[in-house]
Amino acid sequence: MRIAITGSKGQLGTALFRTLREHELLGIDLPEYDITDFDALTAALAGFHPELIIHTAAMTDVDGCEREPEKAYRINVLGTRNVAVAAQQNQAAMVYISTDYVFDGTKEELYWEYDDPCPLSVYGRTKWIGEQLTRELVPRHYVVRIAWLYGDGPRNFVRTVLRLAQERKVLQMVTDEVSSPTYARDVAWALERLVQRPAYGIYHLPNAGTCSRYDWAREILRLAGLEDKVELIPTENYQRLARVPKHACLRNFCAAELGIVMRPWQEALKEYFEEMGHAQ
Ligand SMILES: NC(=O)c1ccc[n+]([C@@H]2O[C@H](COP(=O)([O-])OP(=O)(O)OC[C@H]3O[C@@H](n4cnc5c(N)ncnc54)[C@H](OP(=O)(O)O)[C@@H]3O)[C@@H](O)[C@H]2O)c1
Repeated sequence: MRIAITGSKGQLGTALFRTLREHELLGIDLPEYDITDFDALTAALAGFHPELIIHTAAMTDVDGCEREPEKAYRINVLGTRNVAVAAQQNQAAMVYISTDYVFDGTKEELYWEYDDPCPLSVYGRTKWIGEQLTRELVPRHYVVRIAWLYGDGPRNFVRTVLRLAQERKVLQMVTDEVSSPTYARDVAWALERLVQRPAYGIYHLPNAGTCSRYDWAREILRLAGLEDKVELIPTENYQRLARVPKHACLRNFCAAELGIVMRPWQEALKEYFEEMGHAQ
């Protein structure tokens, strides 16, 4: 298959390039390609004529989106509109990667694919509008929500905890933010299976199980052999610019019906450590 991947240098894009390497791939990322430049994007894709576009590119800095909403709308909404129109022009199917932050996190139970979004932040709102544009403009679409992503690349929660653990003796982490740590390579594995079927629609593909940021940090320190060297203190109500959902936990119902089941987050995190050479 000819597959174009936007955000190809990001965490998920890198994992997709690795997983889908037997296909013909075109990476779309800055500075060579800018999804907000409609003419350049459509010209690049017209030459490649993709059968599938996997759209991962986004402004993913949640507080940054709050500080610079116009930039967030330009990339996450108008950029997605451009990618969707390019998919339409090429008669390609499209995967749109979305987020648990489209929900407000007030539901006690897990969110199904069919629950109504109600984003709290600029980031969540732009991603929700991106979902709607994809559904309106591309008949053959998969809208795939994931959560707390980590993978290749310098910026993610795992790397932040490891860096802070080197710098400080005491770390504070919140117990009142709960979701599912999700390994980019596991999402790529699931997407490879999903796009083989014309089962278009909305999907939730986090790793299985949920935890708080505190629990996640504790497991990271344990896997790094640092639990005795750093004191981890539970806290609540971390003040940040963007409002983030307290309990935006996603239930994988639709992909599981197709036999695509994600493994527990602890197993995936352990493998990430082994891959990165951090394991004790
Ligand atoms: N990270 C998470 O915790 C998380 C959770 C749930 C859902 N998601 C969603 O999952 C997807 C992938 O996330 P990720 O963590 O892999 O993101 P990432 O590592 O931040 O990668 C995104 C990539 O898109 C690129 N990009 C940004 N603006 C662009 C533009 N105008 N044109 C072309 N490329 C552009 C970025 O380049 P620069 O780095 O140069 O800006 C970066 O290489 C995103 O859609 C995100 O909303 C992420």
